[in-house]
Amino acid sequence: MTAPKKLFVKTYGCQMNVYDSERMAEVLGEQAYEQTDVPEEADMILLNTCHIREKAAEKVYSELGRLKSLKAANPDLKIGVAGCVAQAEGEEIMRRQPAVDLVVGPQSYHRLPQMEARVRAGKTALDTDFPEEDKFDKLKSRPKARRAPAAFLTVQEGCDKFCAFCVVPYTRGAETSRPVTRVLDEARDLVDRGVREITLLGQNVNAYHGAGPDGVEQSLAQLIWALNDIDGLERIRFTTSHPNDMTDDLIDAHGTCEKLMPYLHLPVQSGSDKILKRMNRSHTAESYLRVIEKIRAARPDILMSGDFIVGFPEETEEDFQATLDLIEAVGYGYAYSFKYSTRPGTPAAERPQVDPEVADARLQRLQTLITRQQQQIQEAMVGRSARVLVEKPGREPGQMVGKSEYLHAVHIDNSDADIGDIVPVRITAAKRNSLAAVRADQG
Ligand code: 5AD
Ligand code: SF4
Repeated sequence: MTAPKKLFVKTYGCQMNVYDSERMAEVLGEQAYEQTDVPEEADMILLNTCHIREKAAEKVYSELGRLKSLKAANPDLKIGVAGCVAQAEGEEIMRRQPAVDLVVGPQSYHRLPQMEARVRAGKTALDTDFPEEDKFDKLKSRPKARRAPAAFLTVQEGCDKFCAFCVVPYTRGAETSRPVTRVLDEARDLVDRGVREITLLGQNVNAYHGAGPDGVEQSLAQLIWALNDIDGLERIRFTTSHPNDMTDDLIDAHGTCEKLMPYLHLPVQSGSDKILKRMNRSHTAESYLRVIEKIRAARPDILMSGDFIVGFPEETEEDFQATLDLIEAVGYGYAYSFKYSTRPGTPAAERPQVDPEVADARLQRLQTLITRQQQQIQEAMVGRSARVLVEKPGREPGQMVGKSEYLHAVHIDNSDADIGDIVPVRITAAKRNSLAAVRADQG
């Protein structure tokens, strides 16, 4: 028997890429590849890339520049680029960095085995099609491999919203939803392999409208209710959502579906109606706040998370102040904030840009406010009880680390718990990026 070949995968960007990287590793596993954490050992290096902001895309080229030298030490090493940079730039990647052997877009991962054979034969391979066949069907994982207790499951891909700053509708294509039965089968398989929490993923996940068993389309709320019936699955989450697709059935599910966790990532991007309009967001600050009001009426303890862009073309100090006001009004437990980054081919790229120094200063002010809110919310948890899904051992002896319902990282001292247990705790302290806790059900 020949020794297995080694695969090193590096993932950039969103959780959908994390899911895709797992699928790619599985499909190449069938070609006798084993995963390694050490790029120097690898026979194949795959960068699963992100194109959302310029910095993210540029990082890939600098990493490729570094990896190139590994080919001198190992002439058998093949280098591949997957993900959204692959989709957006295609052949250009091989022109810019000739060390790259393979370029594969997010819709073509099931074709990796053939592509791998081609590069082993000394050729290059490029596939950035949007093929007709269902890639998920062909990416079925090997059965029985044990999984960590929290897993991602992609149910929806692509976006039809065309926000004026965003490349996703171009790199990931039009919105598509996986059929309900396929999602449920994959969820049951994950549960059989030890998974207790599933996060449903999609660029626009709450626009999910997958075909049900009878051919009639189902909403994300209906899918969540179907998942709720799976024995052994204890927690359900979903991300990322658009405010306009927060339908009443989904809001109700937050109040009534026991397994649906009290956490919602709902990007708003800006608090200024003028900017929202120019972003083509098709909602206002007020309509966004109304949605949150309804969600909080259904589930008062829900923890809100959001995305913000500062320095979007033509953003004035007054517009930016409106964003700060909205943040004050919501109170975010988590937030991701970015300086506007020009993406060629998107409508906003052509517009008058904000001075980068002004944008930097605004980003700092926004992040200061968000950090303060986050800390206040974490400190308010102290003394309260929570339930933690235990994911891994902590640094101290006897300590275990996991996630609360609200997605806070929690360290449990003297936990006496195993990975995959869901344990009741009392929060004892708020640290910088996590909470400390003790078991609430033991002396
Ligand atoms: N510049 C800055 N941030 C962006 N995002 C998307 N496109 C851009 C861009 N061109 C942010 C949005 C989105 C998140 C995933 O990335 O906030 O919600
Ligand atoms: Fe991009 Fe999200 Fe807007 Fe779609 S809804 S275009 S993914 S920011």
